[in-house]
Amino acid sequence: MAKVTVSTLAKMKKQQKKITALTAYDASFAKLFHDNGVDIILVGDSLGMVLQGSEDTLSVSNNDIAYHTRCVRAGSKELFVIADMPFMTYSNPTQTCENAAQLMRAGANMVKLEGGEWLLDSIRALTQQGIPVCGHLGLTPQSVNVFGGFKIQGRQDEQADRMVADAKALEEAGAQLLVVECIPSPLAKRISDELSIPVIGIGAGKETDGQILVMHDLVGISAGYIPKFSKNFLAETGNMPDAVKKYCQDVQSGAFPTSEHEFN
Ligand code: KIV
Repeated sequence: MAKVTVSTLAKMKKQQKKITALTAYDASFAKLFHDNGVDIILVGDSLGMVLQGSEDTLSVSNNDIAYHTRCVRAGSKELFVIADMPFMTYSNPTQTCENAAQLMRAGANMVKLEGGEWLLDSIRALTQQGIPVCGHLGLTPQSVNVFGGFKIQGRQDEQADRMVADAKALEEAGAQLLVVECIPSPLAKRISDELSIPVIGIGAGKETDGQILVMHDLVGISAGYIPKFSKNFLAETGNMPDAVKKYCQDVQSGAFPTSEHEFN
């Protein structure tokens, strides 16, 4: 497998080839995903919920993400690895660059930050220092207490317009990828159409440039609850390699997600 880079991902958007992404937290799953067609691994702060058993992602530390990034990188030299910047580790440009450097040294190719316009100075600082950035808009889990729960975002016109403006501002500041989470599908399509960087969706319909799922949702073992936008590919295929292959094939062909997994 050739190394996946930011150029590979940009080219895939141009060629309208869907990008496949999953979260992973260790070397064994990183290798399995490498061997079965995944383009991007996200070392997500979702690990606070699916590995550590917390109710949200707020307790995850930069050391936690660095540790799991190192584990994931050991499982694949070629996959594109994005490391999540945890809650309160990117409050200003200096703090952001220091914490992002730890994640890059652990093996990440890019860091992901949740939020809109307030992040622009930090994104400029990161890209100036040679650290590629992925934005994250919509249901940004680190703001769960502001939202009053894990709720769909961007349903009102004003909120949707602000999200489109934020997405464009992130791209202009230097972000090279964007994740949109739990937003209405028409809004996700609008953002994907208006941006030239790839947009990866989760709970955002099929019209984005790629899809991401938390790996525990893909195999139906998330603690207690499977989100509406997810699908248990293991139940359908009966073994892990085929579950991952089927997910990638269905994303690439447009068979996943269907209208049953989206919000309107
Ligand atoms: O932490 C995570 O796993 C994420 C995905 C849900 C996109 O941010």
